[in-house]
Amino acid sequence: MSDNPQRSMNAGRGPIEVPRSRGRVAVIPGDGIGKEVIPEALKVMRAAAGAGGRELFIKEFDWGADRYLRDGTTLPADAPDMFRREFDAILLGALGDPRTPENRHGADILMGLRFKLDLYVNLRPCVLFDRRLTPLNERTEEDIHFVVLRENTEGLYVGMGGFFKKGTADEIAIQEDVNTRKGVERIIRYAFEYARRQGFTRVCMSDKSNALAFGHDLWQRVFAEVQSEYSAIEARHLYIDNLLMQMLRDPSQFQVIVTCNLFGDIASDLGAGLIGGLGLAPSGNIHPGSVSLFEPVHGSAPDLAGKNLANPMGAALASAMLFDSLGWTSEARMIESAVRAAIREGKTTRDLGGSLGTLEMGEWLANRVVKA
Ligand SMILES: NC(=O)c1ccc[n+]([C@@H]2O[C@H](COP(=O)([O-])OP(=O)(O)OC[C@H]3O[C@@H](n4cnc5c(N)ncnc54)[C@H](O)[C@@H]3O)[C@@H](O)[C@H]2O)c1
Repeated sequence: MSDNPQRSMNAGRGPIEVPRSRGRVAVIPGDGIGKEVIPEALKVMRAAAGAGGRELFIKEFDWGADRYLRDGTTLPADAPDMFRREFDAILLGALGDPRTPENRHGADILMGLRFKLDLYVNLRPCVLFDRRLTPLNERTEEDIHFVVLRENTEGLYVGMGGFFKKGTADEIAIQEDVNTRKGVERIIRYAFEYARRQGFTRVCMSDKSNALAFGHDLWQRVFAEVQSEYSAIEARHLYIDNLLMQMLRDPSQFQVIVTCNLFGDIASDLGAGLIGGLGLAPSGNIHPGSVSLFEPVHGSAPDLAGKNLANPMGAALASAMLFDSLGWTSEARMIESAVRAAIREGKTTRDLGGSLGTLEMGEWLANRVVKA
């Protein structure tokens, strides 16, 4: 169904993970524009599932700032087990609200699910659908087609550390960077396996081992070991500062980038910038073979919330990734084709130069899926 299967987010070569037949999806719209883009993504998912003759079971959870402020609920203790038992995948909007500046609920829900469901792969495809969308002069769809694989359960995001003498002139703040042999090896191995499965031939690992002499020395040693098992794949290493510069200078060098939690967070936002912005970028938080979580890369965008301005394409493309994870590849390609068609025909929200609102964009995509 794709316009060009070789250049789809999943390279058109089959499911990202082990095929699953059921479509039980837990949905957490969350906060801000999450509550606007997710209903649109659901319209598109329902249209694609219907067109493919699939049965989709959706259950929504109202976790977010409103619920937290009302009764203190963030992530209920039994939620991870419940998701494993009763669902095949999770779709999340975004979490973050100006009324809760410390973002306790957001951290509990999103980081809680990443850690407790052990979603150790954060997969962020950066695929340029139309050359008019990239800020890089002279770059075409052929040049920008890579994925960032971010380690998603360790690094500087584990929340280990503390303050000493907080609020005084002698304050000390410590934030620990956790790198385990198991954690580093499984994401690097996933990168090579992903490359092999998707038909990619190049994997680039990025770290800062010249300065972070312990944690990233581990990344170096594990990368050297694992790459020796994949002789058909070209393995390359770049320090993170050089990686970011090279992504801007010549993104066509990259196919699969694998890196730690913090660097992946930054590199994938740069990647989103190269393909048209945050409104268009999807991501997957994956535990291979188990329930995984898909979300647009963007946050709750309080500046746009409630104005019918947010682009729902990132959420729609996240739902295409979700379908891929279920093994529903042709339905996933239907969604992707609809997004490509919208961009080609100039039917977009304002961030991509068009004039459609969030609602109209969702409806346009859902109608396009049905007509295809
Ligand atoms: N995964 C998540 O839930 C997640 C991720 C990032 C940020 N956040 C939270 O979101 C809140 C806002 O954070 P931020 O402003 O740094 O990031 P953001 O992604 O919400 O917004 C950054 C910029 O991109 C624009 N933008 C984002 N999504 C868009 C869309 N769909 N269409 C058009 N434009 C879009 C926004 O208007 C804003 O100018 C904070 O509370 C933050 O903690 C949550």
